[in-house]
Amino acid sequence: MKSPKLSDRTNSGSIVENRLHLERLVSAAAPTPTEINAGSDVVSGLTQNPKSLPPKYFYDDRGSTLFELICQLPEYYLTRTETAILQESAGAIARLTGPCEIVELGSGSSTKTRILLDAYSQLEYPLNYVPIDISPTILENSACQLLADYPSLQIHGIVSTYELALAKMAPPQLPTRMLCFLGSTLGNLNPQECDVFFSQIVGALRSGEYFLLGIDLDKSHEILEPAYDDSQGVTAAFNLNMLRHLNRKFEGNFDLTQFEHLAFYDREECQIEMHLKSKKAQTVNLRSLDLTVEFAAGETIRSEISRKFNLDAVRADLSRRGLMPVQVWTDPNQWFGLILCQLSANKD
Ligand code: TRP
Repeated sequence: MKSPKLSDRTNSGSIVENRLHLERLVSAAAPTPTEINAGSDVVSGLTQNPKSLPPKYFYDDRGSTLFELICQLPEYYLTRTETAILQESAGAIARLTGPCEIVELGSGSSTKTRILLDAYSQLEYPLNYVPIDISPTILENSACQLLADYPSLQIHGIVSTYELALAKMAPPQLPTRMLCFLGSTLGNLNPQECDVFFSQIVGALRSGEYFLLGIDLDKSHEILEPAYDDSQGVTAAFNLNMLRHLNRKFEGNFDLTQFEHLAFYDREECQIEMHLKSKKAQTVNLRSLDLTVEFAAGETIRSEISRKFNLDAVRADLSRRGLMPVQVWTDPNQWFGLILCQLSANKD
Protein backbone atom coordinates (compact mmCIF):
# COMPACT_ATOMS: atom_id res chain seq x y z
CA MET A 1 0.00 0.00 0.00
CA LYS A 2 1.34 3.41 -0.95
CA SER A 3 0.88 5.88 1.87
CA PRO A 4 -0.13 9.49 1.30
CA LYS A 5 2.43 12.12 2.16
CA LEU A 6 2.66 13.37 5.70
CA SER A 7 1.44 16.83 4.67
CA ASP A 8 -1.79 15.40 3.18
CA ARG A 9 -2.43 13.39 6.27
CA THR A 10 -1.68 16.25 8.62
CA ASN A 11 -4.08 18.43 6.68
CA SER A 12 -6.86 15.88 6.77
CA GLY A 13 -5.97 15.26 10.42
CA SER A 14 -7.76 11.93 10.31
CA ILE A 15 -4.88 9.49 10.51
CA VAL A 16 -1.99 11.30 12.10
CA GLU A 17 -3.98 13.44 14.57
CA ASN A 18 -1.55 14.18 17.37
CA ARG A 19 0.22 10.90 17.20
CA LEU A 20 3.30 11.93 15.22
CA HIS A 21 6.05 14.19 16.37
CA LEU A 22 9.13 14.58 14.17
CA GLU A 23 12.30 16.19 15.42
CA ARG A 24 15.40 17.06 13.45
CA LEU A 25 18.67 16.99 15.34
CA VAL A 26 20.44 17.06 11.99
CA SER A 27 18.78 19.93 10.19
CA ALA A 28 18.60 20.59 6.48
CA ALA A 29 19.01 24.33 6.97
CA ALA A 30 22.07 24.48 9.20
CA PRO A 31 24.87 22.28 7.92
CA THR A 32 26.36 19.92 10.49
CA PRO A 33 30.12 19.98 11.12
CA THR A 34 30.51 16.96 8.83
CA GLU A 35 28.72 18.80 6.05
CA ILE A 36 30.95 21.85 6.44
CA ASN A 37 33.92 19.53 5.99
CA ALA A 38 32.11 17.69 3.19
CA GLY A 39 34.47 15.32 1.48
CA SER A 40 37.39 15.63 3.89
CA ASP A 41 36.73 12.00 4.85
CA VAL A 42 36.91 11.04 1.16
CA VAL A 43 40.20 12.88 0.76
CA SER A 44 41.75 11.25 3.81
CA GLY A 45 40.45 7.78 2.85
CA LEU A 46 41.73 7.95 -0.71
CA THR A 47 45.12 9.43 0.14
CA GLN A 48 45.90 6.74 2.71
CA ASN A 49 47.58 3.44 2.00
CA PRO A 50 45.65 1.11 1.88
CA LYS A 51 42.77 3.19 0.52
CA SER A 52 39.33 3.19 2.09
CA LEU A 53 36.03 5.06 1.86
CA PRO A 54 33.44 5.72 4.59
CA PRO A 55 30.39 3.42 4.26
CA LYS A 56 28.00 6.36 4.59
CA TYR A 57 28.58 7.10 0.88
CA PHE A 58 26.65 3.90 0.04
CA TYR A 59 23.38 5.50 0.96
CA ASP A 60 22.14 7.86 -1.72
CA ASP A 61 18.59 7.09 -2.94
CA ARG A 62 19.79 4.42 -5.37
CA GLY A 63 22.04 2.91 -2.70
CA SER A 64 19.19 2.73 -0.19
CA THR A 65 16.98 1.00 -2.77
CA LEU A 66 19.75 -1.48 -3.60
CA PHE A 67 20.22 -2.16 0.11
CA GLU A 68 16.51 -3.03 0.49
CA LEU A 69 17.02 -5.49 -2.41
CA ILE A 70 20.08 -7.02 -0.71
CA CYS A 71 17.90 -7.79 2.32
CA GLN A 72 15.64 -9.90 0.10
CA LEU A 73 18.39 -11.89 -1.66
CA PRO A 74 18.41 -15.67 -1.15
CA GLU A 75 22.11 -15.52 -0.18
CA TYR A 76 21.59 -12.70 2.33
CA TYR A 77 20.37 -14.85 5.25
CA LEU A 78 20.75 -12.09 7.87
CA THR A 79 17.43 -10.24 7.52
CA ARG A 80 15.42 -13.44 7.11
CA THR A 81 17.05 -15.10 10.09
CA GLU A 82 16.77 -12.11 12.42
CA THR A 83 13.11 -11.68 11.44
CA ALA A 84 12.39 -15.33 12.25
CA ILE A 85 14.11 -14.99 15.65
CA LEU A 86 12.09 -11.86 16.40
CA GLN A 87 8.88 -13.65 15.48
CA GLU A 88 9.75 -16.40 17.97
CA SER A 89 10.91 -14.08 20.75
CA ALA A 90 8.77 -10.92 20.53
CA GLY A 91 6.11 -12.21 22.94
CA ALA A 92 8.75 -13.08 25.54
CA ILE A 93 10.51 -9.73 25.05
CA ALA A 94 7.26 -7.83 25.64
CA ARG A 95 6.48 -9.86 28.77
CA LEU A 96 10.02 -9.33 30.10
CA THR A 97 10.12 -5.56 29.63
CA GLY A 98 6.47 -4.80 30.38
CA PRO A 99 5.02 -1.56 28.96
CA CYS A 100 7.97 0.10 27.32
CA GLU A 101 8.97 2.81 24.89
CA ILE A 102 10.64 1.25 21.85
CA VAL A 103 13.59 3.26 20.52
CA GLU A 104 15.23 2.07 17.30
CA LEU A 105 18.61 3.19 16.00
CA GLY A 106 18.72 3.12 12.20
CA SER A 107 15.02 2.35 11.93
CA GLY A 108 14.92 2.45 8.10
CA SER A 109 11.73 0.90 6.81
CA SER A 110 10.78 -0.29 10.37
CA THR A 111 9.74 -3.70 9.00
CA LYS A 112 11.13 -5.68 11.92
CA THR A 113 9.66 -3.20 14.41
CA ARG A 114 6.18 -4.33 13.43
CA ILE A 115 6.87 -7.73 14.97
CA LEU A 116 7.65 -6.04 18.30
CA LEU A 117 4.69 -3.66 18.04
CA ASP A 118 2.38 -6.64 17.39
CA ALA A 119 3.65 -8.39 20.51
CA TYR A 120 3.22 -5.31 22.73
CA SER A 121 -0.24 -4.61 21.34
CA GLN A 122 -1.32 -8.22 21.95
CA LEU A 123 -0.59 -7.66 25.61
CA GLU A 124 -2.59 -4.43 25.34
CA TYR A 125 0.41 -2.34 26.29
CA PRO A 126 0.51 1.28 25.14
CA LEU A 127 2.56 1.69 21.96
CA ASN A 128 5.25 4.33 21.96
CA TYR A 129 7.88 4.24 19.23
CA VAL A 130 10.95 6.44 18.77
CA PRO A 131 12.56 5.71 15.36
CA ILE A 132 15.94 7.34 14.79
CA ASP A 133 17.26 7.57 11.25
CA ILE A 134 19.52 9.84 9.25
CA SER A 135 17.10 9.88 6.29
CA PRO A 136 14.06 12.18 6.83
CA THR A 137 12.28 10.67 3.83
CA ILE A 138 12.49 7.09 5.06
CA LEU A 139 11.58 8.15 8.59
CA GLU A 140 8.50 10.10 7.54
CA ASN A 141 7.22 7.48 5.11
CA SER A 142 7.58 4.55 7.47
CA ALA A 143 6.09 6.55 10.36
CA CYS A 144 2.98 7.29 8.28
CA GLN A 145 2.58 3.64 7.32
CA LEU A 146 2.89 2.57 10.95
CA LEU A 147 0.38 5.14 12.21
CA ALA A 148 -2.13 3.96 9.64
CA ASP A 149 -1.68 0.35 10.74
CA TYR A 150 -1.53 0.84 14.54
CA PRO A 151 -4.38 3.11 15.65
CA SER A 152 -3.08 3.68 19.19
CA LEU A 153 0.58 4.13 18.27
CA GLN A 154 2.44 7.31 19.23
CA ILE A 155 5.60 8.11 17.27
CA HIS A 156 8.37 10.49 18.15
CA GLY A 157 10.73 10.26 15.16
CA ILE A 158 14.22 11.74 15.32
CA VAL A 159 16.24 12.62 12.21
CA SER A 160 19.74 12.25 13.54
CA THR A 161 23.01 10.41 13.70
CA TYR A 162 23.19 7.74 16.42
CA GLU A 163 25.68 9.78 18.37
CA LEU A 164 23.59 12.93 18.62
CA ALA A 165 20.35 11.08 19.33
CA LEU A 166 21.96 9.05 22.11
CA ALA A 167 23.48 12.17 23.62
CA LYS A 168 20.12 13.95 23.68
CA MET A 169 17.79 11.14 24.71
CA ALA A 170 14.71 12.50 26.53
CA PRO A 171 13.15 10.51 29.41
CA PRO A 172 10.71 7.83 28.17
CA GLN A 173 6.96 8.46 28.09
CA LEU A 174 6.36 4.98 29.52
CA PRO A 175 7.72 3.25 32.68
CA THR A 176 10.77 1.93 30.84
CA ARG A 177 12.54 1.96 27.50
CA MET A 178 14.11 -0.55 25.12
CA LEU A 179 16.80 0.65 22.74
CA CYS A 180 16.95 -1.59 19.65
CA PHE A 181 20.00 -1.97 17.40
CA LEU A 182 19.18 -4.66 14.86
CA GLY A 183 20.51 -6.00 11.55
CA SER A 184 24.05 -6.59 12.87
CA THR A 185 24.86 -2.95 12.18
CA LEU A 186 27.19 -3.29 15.16
CA GLY A 187 29.41 -5.35 12.84
CA ASN A 188 29.95 -2.36 10.58
CA LEU A 189 31.81 -0.59 13.41
CA ASN A 190 35.46 -1.42 14.05
CA PRO A 191 36.39 -2.45 17.62
CA GLN A 192 37.28 1.13 18.66
CA GLU A 193 34.05 2.56 17.21
CA CYS A 194 32.16 -0.26 18.87
CA ASP A 195 33.68 0.63 22.21
CA VAL A 196 32.60 4.27 21.88
CA PHE A 197 29.15 3.19 20.72
CA PHE A 198 28.59 0.95 23.77
CA SER A 199 29.58 3.81 26.11
CA GLN A 200 27.05 6.02 24.32
CA ILE A 201 24.37 3.34 24.82
CA VAL A 202 25.17 3.09 28.52
CA GLY A 203 25.14 6.90 28.75
CA ALA A 204 21.72 7.11 27.11
CA LEU A 205 19.97 4.51 29.28
CA ARG A 206 18.82 4.78 32.87
CA SER A 207 19.29 1.88 35.25
CA GLY A 208 16.75 -0.85 34.55
CA GLU A 209 16.22 0.14 30.91
CA TYR A 210 16.75 -2.36 28.09
CA PHE A 211 19.03 -2.80 25.08
CA LEU A 212 18.06 -5.24 22.29
CA LEU A 213 20.96 -6.14 20.03
CA GLY A 214 20.92 -8.26 16.83
CA ILE A 215 24.29 -9.70 15.76
CA ASP A 216 25.49 -11.94 12.96
CA LEU A 217 27.47 -14.92 14.25
CA ASP A 218 30.71 -16.39 12.95
CA LYS A 219 30.23 -19.24 10.48
CA SER A 220 31.74 -20.92 7.41
CA HIS A 221 33.04 -18.62 4.68
CA GLU A 222 30.97 -20.68 2.26
CA ILE A 223 27.85 -19.16 3.78
CA LEU A 224 29.31 -15.76 4.62
CA GLU A 225 30.93 -14.81 1.33
CA PRO A 226 27.92 -15.32 -0.99
CA ALA A 227 25.86 -13.12 1.39
CA TYR A 228 28.18 -10.26 0.37
CA ASP A 229 28.73 -11.37 -3.24
CA ASP A 230 25.40 -12.62 -4.57
CA SER A 231 24.84 -14.36 -7.88
CA GLN A 232 22.58 -11.59 -9.24
CA GLY A 233 25.23 -8.95 -8.64
CA VAL A 234 23.05 -6.74 -6.44
CA THR A 235 25.75 -6.35 -3.77
CA ALA A 236 28.30 -5.60 -6.51
CA ALA A 237 25.98 -2.88 -7.87
CA PHE A 238 25.51 -1.54 -4.34
CA ASN A 239 29.28 -1.35 -3.79
CA LEU A 240 30.01 0.23 -7.20
CA ASN A 241 27.21 2.72 -6.66
CA MET A 242 29.41 4.38 -4.06
CA LEU A 243 31.71 5.54 -6.89
CA ARG A 244 28.74 6.86 -8.87
CA HIS A 245 27.61 8.75 -5.76
CA LEU A 246 31.09 10.27 -5.35
CA ASN A 247 31.16 11.24 -9.04
CA ARG A 248 27.92 13.14 -8.61
CA LYS A 249 28.70 14.68 -5.24
CA PHE A 250 32.29 15.71 -5.88
CA GLU A 251 32.43 16.06 -9.69
CA GLY A 252 34.41 12.85 -10.02
CA ASN A 253 35.30 10.73 -13.04
CA PHE A 254 35.46 7.19 -11.63
CA ASP A 255 34.84 4.83 -14.57
CA LEU A 256 32.53 2.22 -13.03
CA THR A 257 33.46 -0.33 -15.70
CA GLN A 258 37.09 -0.20 -14.57
CA PHE A 259 36.42 -1.21 -10.96
CA GLU A 260 35.05 -4.45 -9.61
CA HIS A 261 33.35 -5.63 -6.45
CA LEU A 262 35.36 -7.84 -4.12
CA ALA A 263 34.13 -9.45 -0.90
CA PHE A 264 36.02 -11.95 1.24
CA TYR A 265 36.03 -13.28 4.76
CA ASP A 266 39.11 -12.53 6.88
CA ARG A 267 39.03 -15.37 9.37
CA GLU A 268 41.73 -13.85 11.59
CA GLU A 269 39.78 -10.63 12.04
CA CYS A 270 36.39 -12.39 11.89
CA GLN A 271 35.16 -9.90 9.35
CA ILE A 272 33.83 -9.69 5.83
CA GLU A 273 35.67 -7.01 3.91
CA MET A 274 34.14 -5.32 0.89
CA HIS A 275 36.47 -3.64 -1.57
CA LEU A 276 36.38 -1.88 -4.93
CA LYS A 277 39.22 -3.22 -7.04
CA SER A 278 40.86 -1.22 -9.82
CA LYS A 279 41.03 -3.39 -12.96
CA LYS A 280 44.01 -1.45 -14.35
CA ALA A 281 46.46 1.33 -13.53
CA GLN A 282 44.41 4.52 -13.71
CA THR A 283 44.04 8.08 -12.47
CA VAL A 284 40.79 9.44 -11.04
CA ASN A 285 39.92 13.08 -10.37
CA LEU A 286 37.38 14.48 -7.91
CA ARG A 287 37.22 18.04 -9.11
CA SER A 288 35.34 19.76 -6.32
CA LEU A 289 37.71 18.19 -3.79
CA ASP A 290 40.73 19.16 -5.87
CA LEU A 291 41.86 15.56 -5.56
CA THR A 292 43.76 13.33 -7.99
CA VAL A 293 44.13 9.68 -7.07
CA GLU A 294 46.42 7.13 -8.71
CA PHE A 295 45.46 3.47 -8.73
CA ALA A 296 47.81 0.58 -9.48
CA ALA A 297 46.33 -2.37 -11.38
CA GLY A 298 44.61 -4.58 -8.80
CA GLU A 299 44.75 -1.98 -6.03
CA THR A 300 41.63 -1.84 -3.84
CA ILE A 301 39.58 0.63 -1.83
CA ARG A 302 37.99 -0.86 1.28
CA SER A 303 34.36 0.29 1.50
CA GLU A 304 32.89 -1.75 4.37
CA ILE A 305 33.63 -4.25 7.09
CA SER A 306 31.03 -6.57 8.56
CA ARG A 307 32.30 -8.25 11.69
CA LYS A 308 30.98 -11.63 12.75
CA PHE A 309 30.54 -12.31 16.42
CA ASN A 310 30.78 -14.98 19.06
CA LEU A 311 27.61 -14.88 21.13
CA ASP A 312 29.29 -15.68 24.46
CA ALA A 313 32.03 -13.09 23.91
CA VAL A 314 29.51 -10.34 23.12
CA ARG A 315 27.40 -11.36 26.10
CA ALA A 316 30.46 -11.13 28.37
CA ASP A 317 31.48 -7.78 26.86
CA LEU A 318 27.99 -6.36 27.44
CA SER A 319 27.89 -7.47 31.07
CA ARG A 320 31.32 -5.95 31.73
CA ARG A 321 29.76 -2.66 30.71
CA GLY A 322 26.78 -3.10 33.01
CA LEU A 323 24.47 -4.23 30.23
CA MET A 324 23.33 -7.47 31.86
CA PRO A 325 22.00 -10.08 29.44
CA VAL A 326 18.42 -11.01 30.36
CA GLN A 327 17.82 -13.51 27.58
CA VAL A 328 19.48 -14.62 24.35
CA TRP A 329 17.79 -16.11 21.29
CA THR A 330 19.26 -17.73 18.17
CA ASP A 331 17.95 -19.65 15.16
CA PRO A 332 18.28 -23.44 14.85
CA ASN A 333 21.52 -23.04 12.79
CA GLN A 334 22.97 -20.55 15.30
CA TRP A 335 23.61 -18.13 12.45
CA PHE A 336 22.30 -15.02 14.15
CA GLY A 337 21.84 -13.89 17.74
CA LEU A 338 19.44 -11.58 19.51
CA ILE A 339 20.42 -10.38 22.98
CA LEU A 340 18.11 -8.57 25.39
CA CYS A 341 20.06 -6.82 28.15
CA GLN A 342 19.18 -4.55 31.01
CA LEU A 343 21.34 -1.76 32.41
CA SER A 344 22.39 -2.68 35.94
CA ALA A 345 21.38 -0.60 38.94
CA ASN A 346 24.88 0.68 39.72
CA LYS A 347 25.46 2.50 36.45
CA ASP A 348 27.49 5.33 37.93
N1 TRP B 1 24.85 -4.62 8.88
C1 TRP B 1 24.54 -5.45 7.74
C2 TRP B 1 25.69 -6.37 7.39
O1 TRP B 1 26.80 -6.11 7.74
C3 TRP B 1 24.09 -4.66 6.57
C4 TRP B 1 25.13 -4.02 5.69
C5 TRP B 1 25.84 -2.91 5.94
C6 TRP B 1 25.54 -4.51 4.42
N2 TRP B 1 26.65 -2.66 4.87
C7 TRP B 1 26.51 -3.62 3.94
C8 TRP B 1 25.17 -5.60 3.65
C9 TRP B 1 27.13 -3.81 2.73
C10 TRP B 1 25.78 -5.80 2.43
C11 TRP B 1 26.76 -4.93 1.97
O2 TRP B 1 25.45 -7.36 6.75
